[in-house]
Amino acid sequence: HRHLLGIEGLQPSEILTLLDLADQAVEVSRQVEKKKAVLRGRTQINLFFEASTRTQSSFELAGKRLGADVMNMSVASSSVKKGETLIDTAATLNAMHPDLLVVRHHAAGAVKLLADKVGCSVVNAGDGAHEHPTQALLDALTMRRHKGQIAGLTVAICGDIRHSRVARSNFLLLNALGARVRVVAPRTLLPASVDRLGVDVYTDMRTGLKDVDIVMMLRLQRERMSGAFVPSVREYFRYWGLDAEKLSYAKDDALVMHPGPMNRGVEIDPEIADGPRSLIREQVEMGVAVRMAVLEALAAHLPNN
Ligand code: CP
Repeated sequence: HRHLLGIEGLQPSEILTLLDLADQAVEVSRQVEKKKAVLRGRTQINLFFEASTRTQSSFELAGKRLGADVMNMSVASSSVKKGETLIDTAATLNAMHPDLLVVRHHAAGAVKLLADKVGCSVVNAGDGAHEHPTQALLDALTMRRHKGQIAGLTVAICGDIRHSRVARSNFLLLNALGARVRVVAPRTLLPASVDRLGVDVYTDMRTGLKDVDIVMMLRLQRERMSGAFVPSVREYFRYWGLDAEKLSYAKDDALVMHPGPMNRGVEIDPEIADGPRSLIREQVEMGVAVRMAVLEALAAHLPNN
């Protein structure tokens, strides 16, 4: 593949190859000397139309650890603010001959549209409620390193499924690798298409978490909600927030994940987020490794490689 636009379209063997490559990148990242030369002389531009802490910084570090020259386009101070369109912005950057473009945009499908217009490799860093493929890959890497393999795991993804590209990419990846996926959410936060997603649907946390291996909590994406869907925080935490009592329904060795950004006291009790079963910080470390793996895999398709 020249681009990574989603988990959709990847074969299970391709996902496993990326996870193996990411395991090697973890080792590189833990060394004192962290650099490889796979992308030496190459230019990577990170173009984020939506806020990001983890994804943007980890793509920057990943590119630098592979030897690329990395530029972060600051959309807030760019001519996008003067009305320049997505396509014109992409064409402008494309004229500077980047090799890799990492793009986050608030509209589903925008990254694919852009990929069709530029000459370089494009990575989707999150497009609306559509896909966030590197998040699903880093989640799978984190799970695999703790549980040995993805096949046979039962994973509960809880909370605001309706607005979540992370949930969608995880459904695709976990189903492809043979995990059993549950969604646990109030009806109003489930997508209309939930029956076609290949997941088991629960509307009660205690039943939904019963005997699961992994509990993945999601943030309420208030910025994507209109009035009717916005629940009160206190009520939400009481029924849907992960605390010790609800977690006790999962397996004794169940682990807790969250893609971030977290809203403590809304979808997750801080005691759980910071507790011994939380993989949340480790997910961040795996994020750099997975992005190194993706960039390295795409490097093989760059001209003159
Ligand atoms: N998980 C994730 O995508 O985080 P950011 O929005 O901070 O990049």
